[in-house]
Amino acid sequence: MAKSPGPPVGGTAVSRQAPGSARGRGLFITLEGPDGSGKTSQAARLAATLGAGGVDVVLAREPGGTELGERLRELLLHRDDLVIDPLTDAFLFNAARTQLVAEVIRPALAAGRTVVCARFADSTLAYQGYGAGLDLAILRTLEAIATGALRPDLTILLDLPVEAGLARKRRGRAALTRFESRVDVAFHRRVRDGFLRLARAEPERWRVIDAARPRSTVATEVTVAARSLLEARRGERERV
Ligand code: TYD
Repeated sequence: MAKSPGPPVGGTAVSRQAPGSARGRGLFITLEGPDGSGKTSQAARLAATLGAGGVDVVLAREPGGTELGERLRELLLHRDDLVIDPLTDAFLFNAARTQLVAEVIRPALAAGRTVVCARFADSTLAYQGYGAGLDLAILRTLEAIATGALRPDLTILLDLPVEAGLARKRRGRAALTRFESRVDVAFHRRVRDGFLRLARAEPERWRVIDAARPRSTVATEVTVAARSLLEARRGERERV
């Protein structure tokens, strides 16, 4: 079992229900959004709420969630002394992702567990693609290699205006990441618009939630979105 290098590390079991592959592949739910949209806390809240309701949940985050991933996270987000080319970023985020999928996400889904992950491959499309200008087709190829074509069943976009998100981050206690300390508001606008485009292009997978509202309101909507998918899946299984 991998040692947890620091909270909140992915692969955290939030309920102790016995895994059962007889229930079929578990659901994969991701939360995405610009910096300061509250993904990390909403992901934890969602996992706790579902867990309390008897759903067998694993909570993960990107970049990170594995021992290697957490070390890459440190390099990617908290080393302002490094100059990192956007393509290098794309490789490294995808390297962390490969490890997370192999070590945590696939085994959990195969055991019939629900995986809630704060950020996933759409973040690379939004930040390195729409934000930093890398070719989206190349990024999608890298993504397919890294994930083995695993895609979320539901992606919740916590959307809010860039200025509001960055202001929240600056008020917070956590150290700013390399992307958050970037004063380039235009970059963050492209990232937000990128997420919105991705959501519009695949409305059956995405739910867009206005994250500028109080946390508890947002949490309720996040839970409703996840529960309706879980119930739909349960209904499908009962029919077969
Ligand atoms: P974030 O998820 O916001 O972590 P925290 O909530 O702990 O601050 O930080 C991750 C940062 O990394 C964020 O600025 C977005 C960026 N990022 C990318 O640029 N590409 C990616 O593929 C991923 C997963 C994240």
